[in-house]
Amino acid sequence: MENDVKHIFYNEIRKIKDTSQLRILNESYRSKDSKVLRNGKRLISFSCNDYLGLTQNETLINASINAIKKYGTGAGASRLVSGNHPLYTKLENLISNFKLGESTCVFGSGFLTNTGVIPAIASKNDLIVYDELSHASTNLGIKLSKAKNIKFMHNDNNHVENILKKNRSQYRSCFLLTEGVFSMDGDTADLKALSFLAKKYNASIILDDAHGFGVLGEGRGSQFEFKPTPEILVQIGTLSKAAGSYGGFTVAPKIINDLMHNKARSLIYTTGLPPATVAASIAAINIIRTDKKLVKKPLENAVTFCKEAQLPMPQSSIVTLILGTEKKTLKASRIIEKEGFYVGAIRPPTVPPNTSRLRFTFCANHKKNEIIKLAKIIRNIRDII
Ligand SMILES: Cc1ncc(COP(=O)(O)O)c(C=O)c1O
Repeated sequence: MENDVKHIFYNEIRKIKDTSQLRILNESYRSKDSKVLRNGKRLISFSCNDYLGLTQNETLINASINAIKKYGTGAGASRLVSGNHPLYTKLENLISNFKLGESTCVFGSGFLTNTGVIPAIASKNDLIVYDELSHASTNLGIKLSKAKNIKFMHNDNNHVENILKKNRSQYRSCFLLTEGVFSMDGDTADLKALSFLAKKYNASIILDDAHGFGVLGEGRGSQFEFKPTPEILVQIGTLSKAAGSYGGFTVAPKIINDLMHNKARSLIYTTGLPPATVAASIAAINIIRTDKKLVKKPLENAVTFCKEAQLPMPQSSIVTLILGTEKKTLKASRIIEKEGFYVGAIRPPTVPPNTSRLRFTFCANHKKNEIIKLAKIIRNIRDII
């Protein structure tokens, strides 16, 4: 056994188990009404990024079916070879128009966008200053870029300024990297203050707005909550959350997306998205840009919940309740499950040590009585665990 390579892996898994951080895959069958069937139990899910319920929308489903009939099931090659089916152009033009940007480049996912775009635009003579709570894909993109990188304390623009004062002059370009909505906290970045610093120190903002797109700024995204709209060099988004489909994108000046086509390895060396997926995204963007009532709903539902649960007012459709230890959080999530709800128990390494938490995501199709019932449970949970 000692000489068996699998022994190393058994030990690793045992260590993860010992810290209550073991993850396992559970089959989850989601249905139209925000319910999920998990381990034989039908639960109301507050643990899904399908903010507008578009994964189950008939228009998206029909658009996908029609695209399969017309173009087949797969792209067949990288976009750079023969996988750039006509639906891509339609989707990219639609996103550029909606997000008021010069051009768009669609990637295979949000994760692939971050790991492609950052090393394509930043290299060893450049400086990246980024929020400490940035997503794993951003961290990986930064590592791949070989640029000098400095973390700033979460949402602390004074810290950003101190870093810039000390370091900016030593580098060619400087990128300030943050998220519109922080995925594990649900708070938003102060993009107005950040764009002031960007101007002052000749830096450019890269914004990952995976959770803002489709929900904030009338669906256009987080920066459109501010007036005047802060200048963002590269807007990064995903089509796999509010848009109910799959894929990621950069909205940026055309010269940057030209560079993506030539330098972003996660775009060049991978097969294009299936036509059905791109067709669903087109249908989704058309809904997001026209159905203002639907777009407002996730945040409205989050507000109802926070009022009822006596939590601070939400800034997005994500609400978290930090409980501290992994054990406490798992216990709380089990209690909630017994009451018929599914709420994610988020633990390290996804979040920093001792900040394990319940993470609630609010969607347009949640019913008011479900939200109120869950809020009641949460109001009592701190006394129980
Ligand atoms: C902030 C952030 N960026 C990027 C991603 C990756 O997006 P995708 O799921 O499309 O790969 C996520 C997804 O969890 C995210 O939360």
